[in-house]
Amino acid sequence: MNRLLGVLLVGFICVLVSCGSPDEPSKKSKELPPPKKEIKKVTTTSKQNDKKPMSASTGASPAELAKAKEIIAGVTEKAIAAVDAKKKFKMFCTTCHGITGDLNVNGAKDLTQSKISLEESVAQIYHGKGLMTPFKGILNDEEIVAVSKYIVKLRK
Ligand code: HEC
Repeated sequence: MNRLLGVLLVGFICVLVSCGSPDEPSKKSKELPPPKKEIKKVTTTSKQNDKKPMSASTGASPAELAKAKEIIAGVTEKAIAAVDAKKKFKMFCTTCHGITGDLNVNGAKDLTQSKISLEESVAQIYHGKGLMTPFKGILNDEEIVAVSKYIVKLRK
């Protein structure tokens, strides 16, 4: 019997301590700040890519540029004109570049600020670069050249 009373008393005291102590909540809130700092660190690193200066070149290799020249030389004006470049751009490019070219998803370069040559555009689209997928085999030569000419119109 005494044992049961003891257990009950201990239980009662526990309830009193956990409900009645005014120190508990403030102690808990003092322990909270560190995780918040960690969250801030993550947001700053993810913003690092936002303001990269626009280079006037894609850094395509001489071999890639030579291939691009070959592609451009191999297509006729008529074949380029027959492509609905706006539609192709909407289908394959807007996920990262947006309809107006300045969406910049996945570190995609702002096409409205782009200053690259037709060869560089064709090389970039044909071979891809970084997170941009190569469109070799997805778009044919005249489609690549037509889209390269179309994106020049998005420039400001
Ligand atoms: C998966 C996302 C993605 C898609 C889809 C995409 N791009 Fe890109 N694009 C990028 C990224 C990322 C870069 C920057 C690559 C780098 O420099 O590392 C880029 C860069 C470019 C550049 C170079 C701009 C410059 O001035 O250097 C051109 C041109 C370009 N894209 C055109 C296109 C076209 C046209 C399409 C559709 C056929 C397309 N992109 C589809 C992600 C994408």
